Amino acid sequence: MSRHGLFLTFEGLDGCGKTTQMRLLAARLRQAGEDVIETVEPGGTRIGGDIRRILLDPANGNMGSTAEMLLYFAARAQNVDEIVNPATAAGSIVISDRWTDSTWAYQGFGRALGVELVRRLDEIACRGRKPDLTLWVDIDLETSLNRAKSRNASVEANDTRMDEQSRAFYEQVLEGYRRLAAEEPRRVIRVDGRGSVEEVFERVWAAFEEYRSGDV
Ligand code: TYD
Repeated sequence: MSRHGLFLTFEGLDGCGKTTQMRLLAARLRQAGEDVIETVEPGGTRIGGDIRRILLDPANGNMGSTAEMLLYFAARAQNVDEIVNPATAAGSIVISDRWTDSTWAYQGFGRALGVELVRRLDEIACRGRKPDLTLWVDIDLETSLNRAKSRNASVEANDTRMDEQSRAFYEQVLEGYRRLAAEEPRRVIRVDGRGSVEEVFERVWAAFEEYRSGDV
């Protein structure tokens, strides 16, 4: 058992491989005898899952970006109360697939809503709860777009305008992650996402161990 709970998050562009890496980290920690709880944003709780469905419903294509951002935070507020705070208080390690840094990158930068707004809403929704360590799995834009395209082959493949829009959007998202890592270098660790799953996991594990060795 850990001496005190930990709150870890994984971040990165769509298709960066963070979900796979997160599962590997959870498995390795469980092997070491830790109690690990995995969660996801948006989602993670039953109410969060309902909010996720609203966010992803194609019928809601006309949702404004402010409403979208508030829904992400509503799901997160519930996650803090239902999972993150109680589990870390009980000494568990909580690992979340995305957290407020996604809102910072996607809404703050991608949708240009501004990072100040994201910070203020985070204070309201998360009430000071911040990840202890964030692993940003960094891949280049081309790789991300290609993986996203093959995931949604039928939707996006031949719509050039949309491709252009999504390129500009994801460039901003990536810029958001870069700025975040520059602003909070102790909490947000960049992990090179190139190479095999095993190679990337070695980097993830090294970053975690380094954090652990300084966390007394
Ligand atoms: P998801 O299917 O979970 O994708 P991934 O496996 O890549 O995480 O969808 C999450 C999408 O929601 C992803 O494109 C990022 C976006 N998102 C935001 O725009 N803001 C947020 O605050 C969060 C948590 C996610």
